[in-house]
Amino acid sequence: TRVLDLPAAGLVLLVGVSGAGKSTFAARHFRPTQVVSSDRCRAMVSDDENDQSATADAFELLHSVVDRRLRRGLLTVVDATNLHPHPRQELRRIAKKHCLPTAAVVLDLPADLIRERTRNRSDRVIDDDVTARQLHDLRRALRQLDQEKYRALHVLRTPEEVDAAVVRLVP
Ligand code: GTP
Ligand code: MG
Repeated sequence: TRVLDLPAAGLVLLVGVSGAGKSTFAARHFRPTQVVSSDRCRAMVSDDENDQSATADAFELLHSVVDRRLRRGLLTVVDATNLHPHPRQELRRIAKKHCLPTAAVVLDLPADLIRERTRNRSDRVIDDDVTARQLHDLRRALRQLDQEKYRALHVLRTPEEVDAAVVRLVP
């Protein structure tokens, strides 16, 4: 097993390209109410998880839920790609406002595995060029994450590491 220490009261950012397994990881390790998903927020405001025109509304809703949960000191896991610095910074700002820590779990799986999973998905179609761009963005995000000073920064690089992961909530 690989123990991932995460703050029991605080914000956890999942980071990874589409198909990395963020939603699967979230469902395995956290209660459904602890997970705030950008795709679910998009669906709530537009009836369509894939409607990119709903992104601004979806993130307003996501930030609002994160803010209200953190105000109560509840563990809150953001299931979104979190590949870009400004949205990450906005989320970290909300945690900081409530004097709570932020941690990140990065699913950095081999590109070939991502492409294979993406092609086999039944719930969503993602173009290869979208995957390629996200994989590039992830390389940059990994360098940035190192500088962003998280309470904990866990990077899982193989399916075996993902399978072996056990979350330990630290008070
Ligand atoms: P987006 O929501 O598009 O950003 O993707 P995601 O990161 O949430 O990935 P998701 O959890 O939906 O997983 C994508 C695909 O990979 C699904 O078909 C999953 O069944 C598969 N998958 C995810 N995690 C695992 C895993 O640990 N093992 C295996 N074998 N398949 C996985
Ligand atoms: Mg997902």
